Amino acid sequence: MNALDNIFNDRGYMFIVDDILENCYFNEIKMCKHHGMNRLDHSIRVSYYSYLVAKKLHLNAVEVARGGLLHDFFVAEDLSSKKQKFSLFFHPYASLKNASEYFDLTEREKDIIITHMFPSLPHKVPRYMESWIVSLVDKIVATYEFYCSYGKNYVYKLSNMYIILLILFKW
Ligand SMILES: [Fe+2]
Ligand SMILES: [Fe+2]
Repeated sequence: MNALDNIFNDRGYMFIVDDILENCYFNEIKMCKHHGMNRLDHSIRVSYYSYLVAKKLHLNAVEVARGGLLHDFFVAEDLSSKKQKFSLFFHPYASLKNASEYFDLTEREKDIIITHMFPSLPHKVPRYMESWIVSLVDKIVATYEFYCSYGKNYVYKLSNMYIILLILFKW
């Protein structure tokens, strides 16, 4: 069973992001290594868990799901070799450019994408609660993935954090 199957079985969520997941260029991020895993799976996790949080808080879960899915929409070719070294700082710009090219974005979705690295990009402060949620969930998911890939001893503790997030927001 695929680790993301529970997400793919959520019809409400899939209805919101279907067109993005079917986009050929977007699917190229599956080839990109990200926190020891692949960028597509990372983006889906961030999108889905942010979506659950937003739903629980009665925020705009649709924009959170879509903005969250597009937050790391870039491949190596989208960054110059110099920028690749500093992709931590430049990739939100590349992601926003790509996302704007392939999809109609709302102001909130644009904000979610460009501010998700806050505070690494201190001048890009989230303007909406939805952006704060994606930024926070991105960091939690990234930590989980990082330790799953590189620090097996820490998986247990981090899994607990992940499970707490699920328990709090999925009912
Ligand atoms: Fe990112
Ligand atoms: Fe991310």
